[in-house]
Amino acid sequence: ASAQKSGYPSFMAKEIHEQAKAISDTLLGRLENNEIVLDEMHIDPSHLRSIDKIIVVACGTAANAGEVVKYAIEHWCRIPVEVELAHEFRYRDPIVHERTLVVAISQSGETMDTLMAVRYAKEQGAKVVAICNTRGATIPRESDAAIYLHVGPEIAVASTKAYLGQIAACYLLGLFLAQVRGNLYGDEIEAIMRDLEEIPGKIQDVLDNSGQVEKLAHDMVETTSVLFLGRHVGFPTALEGALKLKEIAYIHAEGFAAGELKHGPIALVEEGQPVFIVVPSPRGRDSLHAKVVSNIQEVRARGAHTLVIAEEGDTDVEPYADVVIRYPETRTLFAPLLTIIPLQIFACELATAKGLDVDQPRNLAKSVTVE
Ligand code: G6P
Repeated sequence: ASAQKSGYPSFMAKEIHEQAKAISDTLLGRLENNEIVLDEMHIDPSHLRSIDKIIVVACGTAANAGEVVKYAIEHWCRIPVEVELAHEFRYRDPIVHERTLVVAISQSGETMDTLMAVRYAKEQGAKVVAICNTRGATIPRESDAAIYLHVGPEIAVASTKAYLGQIAACYLLGLFLAQVRGNLYGDEIEAIMRDLEEIPGKIQDVLDNSGQVEKLAHDMVETTSVLFLGRHVGFPTALEGALKLKEIAYIHAEGFAAGELKHGPIALVEEGQPVFIVVPSPRGRDSLHAKVVSNIQEVRARGAHTLVIAEEGDTDVEPYADVVIRYPETRTLFAPLLTIIPLQIFACELATAKGLDVDQPRNLAKSVTVE
């Protein structure tokens, strides 16, 4: 198996470093003459125009991908999007009917909780689109349509390249729906796709600069608790960053919405507490950037060790950051494809430095085929 790791210490490290190629493969051939082309979207366009709600069902990392894409699909398509953990979904008598589009995200396509949610949704008359990495798996087979990630097999239990692929594939779904429903015109879709197609190069830039985060992970090998803060699309990034650290490094880690800090989590901050903060672009809408910068100040004033993930050229964070990790400029909605990467590397390096089995963490399975 060591040969397949191509010189990397773990499959996870290899898969993290494959992400530029993986995402360019997810996007390959999806734009033709200003139109999004999805070859396995076997749902009638007239039906897609009648949809009045989208429910994303998924578990684990796939559910965090769902939380990211909710922002994009609502923004582009003006359809309400709910994201629900698949195992919670059918036990709460959810409102699902013919005009609901259910999006089931599953890397393996075999997660039993997600499969049961798909079956329930179909019984209620909903159409289901599977976002999947594994051709011929049960979930895409039982769904009405599928979008495959094309990121290649993912071996490590902790998902990395499939997470990015799930987000990118859902962006394609969102743009396709906006096209079919007339929310966006061809030239607008083309402009958005051009920016999306620049993401693999920017992923590579982040990967090429990973030395700083690797060193940080080694310096923090004794850490027992890490907090993650983010706002807007940075919030699910914080959740996913915390999940990676729990899964493979067995460190207590929590992600919070930065705006929620003052409503509770700030009580956890004491001298030396490491806090990652995912900062939105300073070019972003509203005053979100300034609000997140004040959150850095607030936790630092209480002794936190502030590890700040900020856009290149964002100097506002510098006075309050113990460490600044940079990501390239992009559209606000696409930043999650970049900002998660340092957090994946951090978890992977820290677990490796602790001598843990990064690819086969204790108590976890790659695909959970029981409810
Ligand atoms: C398991 C894995 C997670 C994964 C989740 C969903 O719990 O340990 O890494 O995110 O299943 O997997 P799926 O194949 O449905 O995306």
